[in-house]
Amino acid sequence: MEHYKVKEISVLLTNSFANRVDRMKSSDIRELLKLISADIISFTGGAPDPDAFPSPEQLREAIDYILANREKAFQYGITDGLPSFRESIIKFMERQMAIKAELKNVLVTNGSQEGLEVVGRLFINKGDKVAVGLPTYLAAIQAFNLWRPKYIGVPVDKDGLNTFTLEALVKKHRRTRKPIKFVYVVPTGQNPTGTIMSLERRKHLLEIASKYDLFIVEDDPYGFITFRDNIPPRIKALDDEDRVIYMSTFSKIFAPGVRLGWVVANETVIKHMSLAIQAINLCPPNFNQYMLKYFLDKRLIDNNIPKIRRIYREKRDAMLMAMDEYMPSEVNYYRPDAGFFVFAYLPDYIDAKKLLYYAIEKEKVAFVPGRSFFVDGSGYNTMRLSYSLPKPNVIITGIERLSRVIKDHIKRGGS
Ligand SMILES: Cc1ncc(COP(=O)(O)O)c(C=O)c1O
Repeated sequence: MEHYKVKEISVLLTNSFANRVDRMKSSDIRELLKLISADIISFTGGAPDPDAFPSPEQLREAIDYILANREKAFQYGITDGLPSFRESIIKFMERQMAIKAELKNVLVTNGSQEGLEVVGRLFINKGDKVAVGLPTYLAAIQAFNLWRPKYIGVPVDKDGLNTFTLEALVKKHRRTRKPIKFVYVVPTGQNPTGTIMSLERRKHLLEIASKYDLFIVEDDPYGFITFRDNIPPRIKALDDEDRVIYMSTFSKIFAPGVRLGWVVANETVIKHMSLAIQAINLCPPNFNQYMLKYFLDKRLIDNNIPKIRRIYREKRDAMLMAMDEYMPSEVNYYRPDAGFFVFAYLPDYIDAKKLLYYAIEKEKVAFVPGRSFFVDGSGYNTMRLSYSLPKPNVIITGIERLSRVIKDHIKRGGS
């Protein structure tokens, strides 16, 4: 028998990867999570607090409901999601979000992360221009990266994405062969800055989209995690031209472990998303959809929202109070009214990634260096601090420790 084998199998497989695989990079967060041991206070990932999960009693009732629907709940489902579950989502959106939709406009996803992946798959050709915040959610960047877009960074300030700069950029790029195709935005509790986009800017964004013929991807995981009155409506609720692909999730108002989210969009988009998802995972899990349907129909999610808000508001307050008390004056930060994060700017001679290793080693506290949230390579002196998981007293200790490391670094001029 002739023998053709010349390579180690791992070499053969690595050399066989498609070209796009070189765009798949693990984010700083994921690499970091590997370093976190039990004795470290972690402000890294945005994991929800288990106290915000539904109660065991409610979950038991929901499981009885699933068992009563056993034949369907354990069966394959429909790619778009069970119609009866989508009806429950539509009613929930109507009463809680002022978004009106029909069945044909709603698709259930495996968390909103799947929605982002499918947006990349459907809309991005190599070199297509996508406008995103500076900074923006890094896993959206990761999802889009595979399709090799050209990012157009738009500054974010305390009122969210700066639509005046966006309009100037849209105009500028219209004069090139490739205008900007769509804008990705997290309007409420932006990840990582925690900012809320003002109503004026939401309207302005829709005007820009209409005037220059773009569409908008509105990613809204934190729309219910808000800590003040007068939260502007979702952009989708203001969208009378169907230009917004809206996505939300049950991860923060129920639990991320069920991996369920949903998309509201024009029928054509939904049809194509459905085709893409068919090839990815056939359908979202029926078992989990029955569970969420029970919670939605009994209004248990609606009723839990105030409690969830209280949990995170207390933690946000603890973090801001500790930062005001302990952080040196050279550190600037947003005061979030929504979401899971405080985003801080260190003096520009400090590299947050370097600082992180000191923080972990010397003070046993961790955060996410902000650079990965900036598509233009800036942000090396920024950090994201998540307050969602640690308890308030732990948050205060962690910020005190982190402040010590930062003060020490400032004293030594960043080295
Ligand atoms: C802005 C943003 N979009 C999307 C997601 C993905 O959420 P999930 O896939 O759990 O629905 C997250 C998760 O933290 C997020 O912060």
